[in-house]
Amino acid sequence: MNIGIALVGSGSATPHQTLTNAQLGLRVETNDSWIRSRTGIAERHVCDSEETLSALSQRAASSALKMAGWNPETIDLVLLASSTPDDLFGSAPQVQAKIGASNAVAFDLTAACSGFLFALITAAQFLRSGSMRRVLVIGADQLTRWVDWDDRTSCVLFGDGAGAVALEATDQKNDGLIGFKLKSDGNRGNCLTLNQIEDFLPLVDGITHQRGGFSPIKMNGQEVYKFAVREVPSILEELLTANQIDPDSLDWLLLHQANKRILDAVADRFSIPKEKVLSNLSKYGNTSAATIPLMLDEAVRDGRIRPGHLIASSGFGAGLSWGAALLRWQGPI
Ligand code: UT7
Repeated sequence: MNIGIALVGSGSATPHQTLTNAQLGLRVETNDSWIRSRTGIAERHVCDSEETLSALSQRAASSALKMAGWNPETIDLVLLASSTPDDLFGSAPQVQAKIGASNAVAFDLTAACSGFLFALITAAQFLRSGSMRRVLVIGADQLTRWVDWDDRTSCVLFGDGAGAVALEATDQKNDGLIGFKLKSDGNRGNCLTLNQIEDFLPLVDGITHQRGGFSPIKMNGQEVYKFAVREVPSILEELLTANQIDPDSLDWLLLHQANKRILDAVADRFSIPKEKVLSNLSKYGNTSAATIPLMLDEAVRDGRIRPGHLIASSGFGAGLSWGAALLRWQGPI
């Protein structure tokens, strides 16, 4: 393995509409103090009729490209992690076309809230193998399309957003992907689903077919919570040990933004001080595949994450799926 991976640009985008906890309380029986104390969320962004998943992704991607200083025609791959594409056949080609990445192959990858990390690691394999030099990884979701707005146990959590990271092949000594681990467990998948509706119609005599369509998100919040506070520390521990990295040497903990209590529990487990735990959950809620790049971009742009910083990141969610990566931010070369 003599090709390194440099994280050289980031970008993000959120819809302009914001929905506060108080506004949500007008729709469903909930209130600001419950939502803040149980989740850390104060408001979330919601796409309107003008904003699509592809459009948000395009904005995030263009801004990452700009930071990296890339000509879009030099990109080899546009990889879009999303569970909520505009088109079930995939939205990545739309993004590829809109950003002018005319020489790139583009496809979608689905792994719910773990999607961004799974896509980052997938993209890294193309770089490590030497078959590609520049890839753009996007994490974007529009879960507000699929939330049951009458289910207060889940609708308070989710919002829309997109984030992107530009990855470039580099020398081994500048490698920014120090290690990773990815896991799945379909046996536990039923605690968080966005399933097909069961709508079977007669087609011709003796033949039925299923009409497409999805029922809203169903979640057993307590089960997902227990999964996260057990598996995230465990996978991070494995990763740190395998790479002989002491938690004290981390500059940042960058977790999937699902619940402030989950962030706190993981940080406590490794005695990571609160100042090193990145969180923007209060402004955006859980934007699924977007949370990690959205947070990364915010912290890069406000100067918290600086070149050379070591970041432990972990994503987790439906599938069930979870993963972790040790990253070193490089910034524009
Ligand atoms: O990307 C992964 C996505 N999913 C997650 O990360 C979800 C992980 N789970 C969680 O974040 C938490 O389980 C929740 C925030 C969803 C719920 O918090 P909790 O502390 O586990 O609450 P609970 O389900 O135990 O409910 C406590 C009480 C219940 O009332 P009773 O039975 O004690 O009277 C609920 O009915 O809070 C009630 N409740 C609410 N009250 C006001 C549940 N949702 C709400 C609400 N507003 N929105």
